[in-house]
This record gives sequence, structure tokens and C-alpha cells, in this order.
Amino acid sequence: MQIEARKGKIDQADEEAILLGCFEESSRLTGALQSVNNELSGAITDLYATGDFTAKLGQTAVLYLQGRLKSKRIILTGLGKKKEITIERIRRAYGHAGKKIKELKIKSVSVQALDSDQNRIKLRESSQAIVEGISLANYKLDRYTTGNDSQKKALQNLTILTDDRRKLSEIEKGVKDGEIFSWSTIFTRDLANQPSNQLTPSQFGQAAQKLAQQNGLKCRVLSKSQIEKLGMNAFLAVGSGSNQPPTLTILEYLPPLKKVDTLVLVGKGITFDAGGVSLKDTENMLEMKGDMMGGAVVISTIAAAAKLKLPVHLIGIVPAAENLPSGTALKVGDILRSHSGKTIEVLNTDAEGRLILADALSYARSFKPDAIIDVATLTAAIKIALGPICAGIFSDHQGLKSKMIQAGERSGERVWPMPLWDEYEPFLESDLADIKNVGGRWGGASLAAVFLKAFVGDVPWLHLDIAGVDFKDKTIDLEKYYSYWTKGATGFGARLLLQFLKDWKNI
Ligand code: BES
Ligand code: ZN
Ligand code: ZN
Repeated sequence: MQIEARKGKIDQADEEAILLGCFEESSRLTGALQSVNNELSGAITDLYATGDFTAKLGQTAVLYLQGRLKSKRIILTGLGKKKEITIERIRRAYGHAGKKIKELKIKSVSVQALDSDQNRIKLRESSQAIVEGISLANYKLDRYTTGNDSQKKALQNLTILTDDRRKLSEIEKGVKDGEIFSWSTIFTRDLANQPSNQLTPSQFGQAAQKLAQQNGLKCRVLSKSQIEKLGMNAFLAVGSGSNQPPTLTILEYLPPLKKVDTLVLVGKGITFDAGGVSLKDTENMLEMKGDMMGGAVVISTIAAAAKLKLPVHLIGIVPAAENLPSGTALKVGDILRSHSGKTIEVLNTDAEGRLILADALSYARSFKPDAIIDVATLTAAIKIALGPICAGIFSDHQGLKSKMIQAGERSGERVWPMPLWDEYEPFLESDLADIKNVGGRWGGASLAAVFLKAFVGDVPWLHLDIAGVDFKDKTIDLEKYYSYWTKGATGFGARLLLQFLKDWKNI
């Protein structure tokens, strides 16, 4: 999709559709909306008068112009009450408009930029949110049907318009941000939506290598024998049931500025989680092609950070493997010597994420980072606790925690803090090894997090459990709120981490 900012009058635009945001208040017909209304001899006033459209957030209306303007139609999207406006509400409003654009198969659209004074929301930010809402809502699943041309039917050109030349540079910056933020989500969705026969651990590594080439990053993809040399036996054990060899991807972004902080991002890269010998049932296995979404979030965030030239040194680590049952698979009761030297008793092979992350986190420490962040579709328990609405975060570091919550509010990918207390530790005590990988039913998300904590040591660390929000829920309709989510993977986490890194100043 081509996205640009341009100076011009919305009623002169010749794109297939023109799009305007409307507020609920009586002073709603101002600026561009008023001049369009005048051009159309009060058509928008008439629409309001019917009560069919009150500009509530979530409402859209389409007016057909019968040649009265160059464009064929106007799309109006409700922004709700002016005093309630937030960045996320703008993103959602334009997500609704984006869904309309998708439904009508519109290929080019001109959008009126918002005024700069929307409740302290800067023009740059509102422009970014407009771009994100529309482009994320227009995402189409890559389909594997023959003769498929769905990508050609999608929106091709998106223009943000202002008639004030002084505003153009701020809008341009917002458009650029919006494009890169959306790209990171879309790239994550694409990877998570790929079935496991299209995205093996090796192919995950290749995808990272391609990203590195395109964005000037360093990338190494370690093979099984190299992983063996590092002593990552917990990670290797998880992959041992599959014919597909595991890979360890290490992606690095060095910013132009030297004296900057180093952050390691670790992502769970299970390209398929059958559960191993603790086999899942079919229903619970269905979405397990997306068990590498944390890994996808990590590599797309780093590539996007490079595109934005953010002043932070980033290292991404993604252990990738398939968790399958077989004659060579990890078994219940096995004891593993992890990269850290700690021994782990495996009492459920379906708690595999924490095994590969234990090794990756302990390896991450060797880079002497200022902080480590991990992202993983780790536990069903987090979905039970929070629902398919937000992610859980776990950290003993108040600074990291509050920064992540703030990034969640700004990006619309919200997170909620969960406990990481010592009281959870006894549940993981093993009779035979230093720790066991499961500890019963209660507090499952915290138990997993406390398990990880045992391998991080004293580096500032934050863990993000995204298992609840990896795929758009099929049973509950969240469209009203998360208008910019589409069928399949949400890509949750990429924009969140990118916002977190953009605001990074040291902790
Ligand atoms: N990949 C799953 C977690 C998951 C569940 C992700 C639902 C997305 C949606 C993870 O590897 C897993 O199987 N966890 C087990 C742990 C249990 C055995 C302690 C779980 O949550 O049931
Ligand atoms: Zn599992
Ligand atoms: Zn898993």
C-alpha cells in the first residue's frame, strides 16, 4: 500500500472515496466537514437529522455523490465525544472505516487529517493512528487457495490531506510512523498465520535473515550442532521429537549513535506446539501454528526499530523448534541440564515454552544487557485470568513495568501486571532436580513466570505473556473495540514493544 501526506482540499480529492471523522457534539460540522456539507447542499446535516448516524465511535456512514464531487463516495466515521478522544479511540474509529473500505473493495482513499487541537493529541500522533487503523483493518490473510488474487483487490493508495501547508510536515512524520508501526504488526501477523509446514524453525531463521538484509541488521542463525555447543539442552530437548532441526536466531540492530543502552528481546519460537508426549487434543492444537508469535514480535520489532533509527542497541534471540511426540521426543520425568547449569525435571512436555526460554534467557545474560524483555504465548492460564483482551506482564522492576503499561496505553496493545512473588516458588520445587517445569493448576501464568525468573538472575527483566491475545477470538465479537484486528493472528506485541522502545530513555 502507498501511503502519503499531501496538501489539498478534501472536496477536490479524486480518490475512489474520501473519508472524514465526525464528532458527536453539536459543533460537529466544522472545518473540512462543513465545507463538504456546503458543497453537498447540507447532505451531512440531513444525515444527522435522520438519526441514522450520530457519530458514535463504531458507526460509519457512506454517502454517494452522483458526480457532485470528483470522488464517488464519502465515508464518515464516528469519533464519539470530543472530550473522550484518545489515540486509541482514533485508531479504532479509523479501523471501523478501514473495515468499510475493505468491504467495499475500495482501492484509493483520501482522508482528512484531524485538527491539531484534539484534546492535546498532537497532529503527528493522530495521523499515525489514522494510518494504523486503516492499514491494520485492511490486512488480508494470505490464502492458499488456487487462483487467489485477494491482495490485488485490497486498498492500494491512502492519502492524508490537509489544506494547511504548515501542518504538512507533522502529518508526514505521523504517516511515516504509522506506516512502520503497522508494518511491524502485519509482518508479525503474516508469520503467525503461516501454517507450520510453511514456517519451520529453519524457515523462521531464513525470514529473519531476509529482514536483516533489507534493514541493515546483523543476523546469525545457529544450527543444531552450534546450539549443542552452547549447552542449551533444555531447548534442544523440546525440539528432539521433530525431524525439523531447531534453530537459534540472533538478530542485532546497532544504531548510528554509539553510547546507548543495550536491550535483549527474547521471543518464543515454537513453530508448532502439539504438546509433545503430553499431547494436546485437536481443539487446543488448532492455533498452535502461532506459538512462535513472540519470536515474530521480536524480529519485526527490531526491524521496525531500525527503520525508525531508534537510539537503542537491540539484540533479538529466538529459539525456534517444533514440539512433537515421537520415539526421540522428550519424555515426562526426564531431567535436563540447562544452559545456566540448573537442572530441570520435566513433568509436562507441553510446558515447553519455559524450557526453551530458560536457555535463551540465560544466554541473553552473556550480552550484558541493561534489560531483558521476553515475549511468549506461554500459558492458557493468562487467557483464563485476563481474557482475550490484553497481555499479562511480570516484572520485579517498577520502571520497566510502568513504561510497558504506558506503551500499552499509547499503542492500544494493553498489558496488565501480574504477580511474581516468591510464594509461588515452592510449587516448582523438585525432589530430583533444581526446579520442575510445572507446579499444578493454580496460578499457572505466575508459575511459568517464576520459573523463567530462576534463569534471568539480577538483570532488569520483564516477561510478556501474550497467549490470550495471539489470535482473534472466534467465539466473542470484539469488533466493536478492536476494529483493526482481522481474522487469524492479531500481531499483538510488535507495536507495543516498538512504542516502548521509542519512548526508551533508560530506566
Ligand atoms: N503454547 C501453549 C500456551 C498457549 C495456550 C498459547 C493457548 C496460546 C493459546 C503452552 O506451551 C502450553 O501448552 N502451556 C500449558 C502449560 C501447562 C502444561 C502447565 C498450558 O497453558 O496449558
Ligand atoms: Zn505447550
Ligand atoms: Zn507452547
